[in-house]
Amino acid sequence: MLVTEMTFLRDHWYPVAEAAVTVGPVAVRLLGADYVLWPTGDGAFSLADPMCPHRSAHLAGGWVDGGDLVCPYHGWRFGGDGGCTFIPQMDEGLPAPTRARLRTYPALVRYQMVWVCVGDRPVADGPPPWREADEHPDWRFHVEFFEPWRVAAPRIIDNNLDASHVAYVHRSTFGDPDDARLPPIALEPTGSGGFVSRLAVEQKGVGVQNGATDDETRRFERVTETELLAPLVTRTRLYYGGAASDYGFFGAA
Ligand code: FES
Repeated sequence: MLVTEMTFLRDHWYPVAEAAVTVGPVAVRLLGADYVLWPTGDGAFSLADPMCPHRSAHLAGGWVDGGDLVCPYHGWRFGGDGGCTFIPQMDEGLPAPTRARLRTYPALVRYQMVWVCVGDRPVADGPPPWREADEHPDWRFHVEFFEPWRVAAPRIIDNNLDASHVAYVHRSTFGDPDDARLPPIALEPTGSGGFVSRLAVEQKGVGVQNGATDDETRRFERVTETELLAPLVTRTRLYYGGAASDYGFFGAA
């Protein structure tokens, strides 16, 4: 079955843009459908179907003016709720036609990312909680990338959960092909329907990466905690017991 045919996925929340750098309308493709996202002011965003109800111009080619999305073809404007706020060619005082409306979807900012939900029954709690960001607001936060990958989304999540690839894929840094066997992994279900795994290994190379040592051969005891937060969202925490900096990763497909 294609991921786009798994309708339950539509009710979950997905990060689709970095809030701070999204200053104009952007095209969003999510679960096989196209949308337009734009900032409506005061740090808020709207997500809507992308085709203008007038002559079907793609609204991601337009611009934002005062929080309204302006169509690039004839200049119709749409507010954050999808309603048409202005038609430049129409006589003043006349109401916009009722069909001049965009279908919109819930959008909110959390962890510096814009999250959206395109399902009919959005998961009520909103985006899944990211412990590292909630518990350590002093940590340095870095959005690594938003980019399309030509791969089924569950394959990305599978990779995030897969500890056994590290020895080979990361062999030029902290992976060691001569030490590919893993100890048993502790796996616990979580209340949210996901699970969390914990794996303790000795790892080389990490000290150089995080500035704890110049010695590439020095090994660090590392506990990797990986949690499936939602069907296509994971978090990973790397604990070094104080010997080096901890890391937290958040991954969504
Ligand atoms: Fe958008 Fe005409 S197509 S205003």
